[in-house]
Amino acid sequence: MKVVSIVGTRPNFMKLAALIEEIKKHKIEHILVHTGQHYDMGMSKLFFDELELSKPDVNLEVGSGTREEQIKSIKEKLEPIIEKEKPDVVVVVGDVNSTLAAAETANKLGIKVAHVESGLRSFDNTMPEESNRVETDKISDFLFTTEKSGNENLLKEGISKDKIFFVGNVMIDTLLNHREKAENSKILEKLDLDKNNYAVLTLHRPSNVDTKEGFENIVSILEKIQEKIKIVFPVHPRTQKNIDMFNLRERIKSMKNLILTEPLGYFDFMHLMANSKLVLTDSGGIQEETTVLGVPCITLRNNTERPVTVEQGTNLLVSIDANKIIGESLKVIDNKIKRDGKIPELWDGKAAERIIKILIDYFNTHS
Ligand code: UD1
Repeated sequence: MKVVSIVGTRPNFMKLAALIEEIKKHKIEHILVHTGQHYDMGMSKLFFDELELSKPDVNLEVGSGTREEQIKSIKEKLEPIIEKEKPDVVVVVGDVNSTLAAAETANKLGIKVAHVESGLRSFDNTMPEESNRVETDKISDFLFTTEKSGNENLLKEGISKDKIFFVGNVMIDTLLNHREKAENSKILEKLDLDKNNYAVLTLHRPSNVDTKEGFENIVSILEKIQEKIKIVFPVHPRTQKNIDMFNLRERIKSMKNLILTEPLGYFDFMHLMANSKLVLTDSGGIQEETTVLGVPCITLRNNTERPVTVEQGTNLLVSIDANKIIGESLKVIDNKIKRDGKIPELWDGKAAERIIKILIDYFNTHS
């Protein structure tokens, strides 16, 4: 079996890390392609170093642009590589523009597509990720799901049961594989924080940071919460740019309990989350990681494509309503609610093992 796998953005690296370890274990021929969608040191190379991923065999260096520009450019640059390498399968992860572009390229060339983290649906068509998920799943040959809702969504969309495999969560594989290293992080000392006495915030969804009104609403929420607790805020490049575009820098600077940092590395960020009182986020993956870490998470969105984190985990979805978010945050800060949650089925560190076994078995019987 020969595999080409694709990464492009920060969360892709954590997901593929677990798969690459398994690929190495089985000595499978493997070509790693980085699309270059994320390119800053702190958004890309840092994770390769920390997770000990080998340098990508190819970097398409597509950089930033609109969704259409990124997808077009990846397809043009990836096609000759896949034609030359002729893999049995192209592995894509998650729901970013790089995921869809690579899946479409492989599909056009008649190469099988394996989609890891398939079937998640927010049912919110304004999110580019939702289109990326639906379009990628339509053309995938192996659909690996992280939670049962994914299987149900795919079946409802008419995808054949034979292609769908509930395997667990590769992002959680990576978290469990690196827990010890994360525990040794010195980020709390560096930022002068006490365990269990600060909140962590991440923010990068266009719905929150790409309009002045949306971003101002979030800033008003933070103004209230930081009166009660320190908030650490590693700022995503998209968000950093928009703080200035919407003239919010002064308001943000004047919050004395809001601590802004550059994007953090994997170990520092895991350590920061694991020891926090509360996480506020609009990220997808962080909803899952907080569930496994047992840390209360309030999701700053109106929907989630990861319902198991709400039904079984520590995630709370209260919509983008300032009063509700402030109210629920204060309850957590004042210990008025206890959200233990449980670990979802098959989030046991063995998802990558299951995925690679399914692929090996398939290509052994179909070669
Ligand atoms: C992308 C994904 C999103 C994912 C997120 C994780 C899509 C549609 N979106 O969003 O699903 O949750 O990555 O971080 O694929 N930039 C830099 N340096 C970088 C990368 C980006 O400065 O290394 C800046 C650029 O100004 C760029 C902007 O951030 O225009 C947004 O980057 P982009 O990759 O388009 O989207 P993200 O918001 O990162």
